[in-house]
Amino acid sequence: MSNAARQPATLAAQASGHSDPVHGAIVPAIQPSTTYERDADYKLIGTRLYSRADNPNYDPCEALVTQLEGGAASLLYSSGMSAATAVFLALQPGDHVIVPPVFYWALRNWLHDWAARWGLKIETVDTTQPALVAAAVRPGATKLIWIETPANPTLAVTDIAALAEITHRGGARLAVDSTFATPVLSQPLALGADLVMHSATKYLNGHSDVVAGTLTTRITDDYWQRLKVGRAQSGTVIGPFEAWLLLRGMRTLFVRVHAQCRNAQLIAERFARHPGVKTVLYPGLPSHPGHAIAARQMHGGFGGMLSLRVNGGAASALNLVRHVNLWKRATSLGGVESLIEHRASVESPGSGTPDDLLRLSVGIEDAGDLIADLEQALG
Ligand SMILES: Cc1ncc(COP(=O)(O)O)c(C=O)c1O
Repeated sequence: MSNAARQPATLAAQASGHSDPVHGAIVPAIQPSTTYERDADYKLIGTRLYSRADNPNYDPCEALVTQLEGGAASLLYSSGMSAATAVFLALQPGDHVIVPPVFYWALRNWLHDWAARWGLKIETVDTTQPALVAAAVRPGATKLIWIETPANPTLAVTDIAALAEITHRGGARLAVDSTFATPVLSQPLALGADLVMHSATKYLNGHSDVVAGTLTTRITDDYWQRLKVGRAQSGTVIGPFEAWLLLRGMRTLFVRVHAQCRNAQLIAERFARHPGVKTVLYPGLPSHPGHAIAARQMHGGFGGMLSLRVNGGAASALNLVRHVNLWKRATSLGGVESLIEHRASVESPGSGTPDDLLRLSVGIEDAGDLIADLEQALG
């Protein structure tokens, strides 16, 4: 049976079938060399020249992400931010770009602080409303529409297929930050997106011990070549050990994400009925405004991320965080351990995140333990 016929969970568990042709090792070796030798005729012995361009430990990671996303090629980056910013840096000054009002806060800041100063025309449009996006597209000038679904930290859901249709009608590219959805639950390229980005720091690695990012393309066009050359020139690469750890993490991606989805759904349902909680933001709840779209474009669960808006404002939110014993008070997400975060305290003033909001990254612990700890902390 060829890899093409195998299920994604199989490909992930076996690191897309990797085995070492010399020793038969089923785990790749770590290749720390920064440089590669030439023969006496000055021909490179292998295919590599220097490790700022790439490294053998990237190959199985990139191959696996490409297969899981159903793309043509992938690039591994030093962080989710370096993957995301590369997408914008490959555009030209003067290009018009549409972004949503809510997406990863640090990228939003970078776009307004750096990309706008460098000449990109950034316009914020509510991407959960496709008609508003269609009206904002400027054919010929709009080069990129960036969406994040479900979005951090409000869990707003954008209709990828509808946005792809609008984007292509306007002659632009659609890029999707699919970090929260993971390739286990959603394949944006099959819905028409052109690029998928992950903060591999989160679910892909899954153990809170690697910072990395990925981009996957639907087609290997000139723009993709620019991204590839841009990574080698700017050196936004990770070390071989981090790439090795990432591959190890991805082998358990499917079991982790399915367990996280089950736990998150139980927590969302429990706290949707709790008197101390004003709203649970989770696309797996039928009451969530994006539920129907999420059910169409996410398969096997609605993700391990949810946010609680508590009654009593910031003081109640911070009081809850103070009293948890099991949940870790920390930023980031997607690891096997559950994290709780008061986002407004972490983001800059004016970020727009409500101060009664707590973002939960649900791990793989026992759901009853996680619920009991939140219940006692809510009082
Ligand atoms: C949705 C999303 N995208 C991108 C990033 C940036 O990723 P990194 O921290 O790996 O640079 C994050 C980080 O929290 C994120 O949550």
